[in-house]
Amino acid sequence: MRLCAGEGRRDGRVQQMALAGVQSTSEPVSGGVFIETYGCQMNLVDSEIVMAMLEERGYRRVDRPDQAELVLINTCAVREHAEVRAIQNISRFKHLKEKGRDVRVGVLGCLSEYAADQLAGTLPFLDWILGPDAYRRLPGLLAEPSSEIPLIFQGNGAEELYDDILPSRRSGVNAWVTVSRGCDNHCTYCVVPATRGRLRHRAANSILDEVKMAVDQGFVQVTLLGQNVNDYRDGNLDFAGLMEKVSKVPGLRRLRFMTSHPKDLSERLIDVLASGGPICPELHLPLQSGSDRVLKRMNRAYTADQYRGLVESVRKRVPGLLLSTDIIVGFPGESERDYHQTEQIVRETGFDDAFIYKYSERPHTPAAKLKDDVENAEKVRRLMILNDIVRASGQSRRLQRIGRTERILVEGPSARNESEQMGRTRAGYVVIVPGAYLSGNELDVRITSLSGYTLRGRAV
Ligand code: 5AD
Ligand code: SF4
Repeated sequence: MRLCAGEGRRDGRVQQMALAGVQSTSEPVSGGVFIETYGCQMNLVDSEIVMAMLEERGYRRVDRPDQAELVLINTCAVREHAEVRAIQNISRFKHLKEKGRDVRVGVLGCLSEYAADQLAGTLPFLDWILGPDAYRRLPGLLAEPSSEIPLIFQGNGAEELYDDILPSRRSGVNAWVTVSRGCDNHCTYCVVPATRGRLRHRAANSILDEVKMAVDQGFVQVTLLGQNVNDYRDGNLDFAGLMEKVSKVPGLRRLRFMTSHPKDLSERLIDVLASGGPICPELHLPLQSGSDRVLKRMNRAYTADQYRGLVESVRKRVPGLLLSTDIIVGFPGESERDYHQTEQIVRETGFDDAFIYKYSERPHTPAAKLKDDVENAEKVRRLMILNDIVRASGQSRRLQRIGRTERILVEGPSARNESEQMGRTRAGYVVIVPGAYLSGNELDVRITSLSGYTLRGRAV
């Protein structure tokens, strides 16, 4: 997340493309494409890229599979749970073909790279299985006659950046813009190097052009995206330099990024994070474990004390920072003592948010050679304790916002009550305000209360 940011994060666990402005009949629509997206933001962007390629050839999004001539499922392989869920969900599209309709079904995403043969064997009704570097094949395949068996297309570890394609974004305030694809970090538990290949960076000019186009289209917030944005390079330009350039794009109100690997979080990037303007004080910094022994076995290349030092430095220099993290419990060989070290650092740090996962063995990763020896019940116990600690610190940090005036960016009506709006502060805390305010506008709000994890406020 690294943007293997994980199957779904603040941004929603399973993300189904919510489709704006489409018809709600269940009649097939000529050139209709239904696309369902699981996993991380990288997958979300990939679905937007695929949609852009298809729209150029006259296809358009529909919001129901029974309206579609083409059904695409963009899958995630980061944990076994994501994989199982994806396979179950794909099988529910089989009946579309059984109805004798001329519909074609393709699987995209990390699972296509990782478990293509298994997919083809268990879901023979599929037309195509395309890995993340093979999406340019899709338009050509649509013109070819159907095959009896699923056709598999995978990346060749390629240089593919899809740099020339402007993602077809849904409406909203935020545009995700990728700065790189793939990952060279080789954390031992992680499937991403196997599914998304070697690290490659986009040229800064290309990123800047895309940001300008997104702003022209009305997106007032941009989140720069990479598995590990901190190792971004374009000649002499590093990620801090890229952030500075992007922050100067006229009309851009808010700039965020994810994900940062602690080993590469530079002093310069901390300075940039502190510099204000459109740059928002938010940092997602995956810890993974508080035990040096486990960190080493994960190949994370930092110690718990180095992580502490980073947090201290960032918090000192970036006032009002929202700090979130990822943690894995039950990594092979994680003893009670190792786990306690994680618990301790989680207590000390007081994260605003944390995504805590049970270790899930992924075949072909280096960690798969280690015995997955922590019982599931023990993993669950550790996960629940950490979740409780983070919930308490997350609430307490939100309570500190009460009484303050914060500038929120309105994102749209609240999911629970259409007469209220949901927005985020610059740091990224969600705030609900009564009233009808247009999304994309900024609004000064006095924070009045906290309900669960959500702040409430009133426009001032
Ligand atoms: N098991 C459990 N969690 C994992 N993550 C990545 N791979 C695994 C795995 N095999 C988590 C890490 C990462 C997040 C996106 O997903 O915490 O930061
Ligand atoms: Fe994203 Fe692929 Fe990682 Fe899932 S496995 S979180 S889809 S990069």
